[in-house]
Amino acid sequence: MKRVAVLAVLAMLACTTTQQSSAPSNAAPKSNYKNLQVLPKDISREQLLATMRSFTRGLGVRCNHCHVVKATEPKEELDFPSDAKDEKKNARTMILMTREINRTWIPRVSKEPADMRVGCWTCHRGKPEPESPPPPPEPQAQPKPSR
Ligand code: HEC
Ligand code: HEC
Repeated sequence: MKRVAVLAVLAMLACTTTQQSSAPSNAAPKSNYKNLQVLPKDISREQLLATMRSFTRGLGVRCNHCHVVKATEPKEELDFPSDAKDEKKNARTMILMTREINRTWIPRVSKEPADMRVGCWTCHRGKPEPESPPPPPEPQAQPKPSR
């Protein structure tokens, strides 16, 4: 069940947003959401929330890492459509980058379906910023190569 949800999310991330070029439709895609620029505009509530949860897990943050807090009393309220936080704008770029990696680059080295290969967790591992590699080992006195 968990795994199905994860795959659904990654498929969402991989999804093309070529709505303009799809068959002419008089009905604009109905959306519950006001400001989706990279996720599919007709995404279901369930898929959107699963996607957002994959972000909080992937980065080890809460929703308010990317979404503006508009009230704290009596309980926290977030302004989800607002683009005021850089983290949200950066996250959009990251969604596009992740999509591009899965669509363009992974298929060049893997025959398995690419949609589900790279996600936020792949790099972030539960941190807002991916970790730097450990420092290189102390340089060691190398024996002089004999010539
Ligand atoms: C890493 C950043 C990040 C985190 C964490 C995050 N979101 Fe989002 N959220 C986004 C981005 C980016 C968009 C806009 C996607 C787009 O433009 O297609 C978005 C859009 C939304 C929207 C749609 C708003 C609208 O009407 O346009 C909702 C609702 C939402 N998020 C809820 C949540 C919830 C609930 C959580 C916590 C479980 C959460 N988000 C955590 C980045 C994040
Ligand atoms: C290929 C590796 C990689 C993947 C995949 C990736 N990121 Fe990142 N991300 C980075 C790197 C590197 C940075 C830059 C960190 C820094 O500022 O030094 C970064 C920065 C960010 C930032 C800006 C830092 C901040 O807290 O504002 C956000 C937000 C973010 N990533 C969200 C995401 C989300 C959401 C996903 C999945 C859709 C994702 N990333 C997938 C490598 C990755």
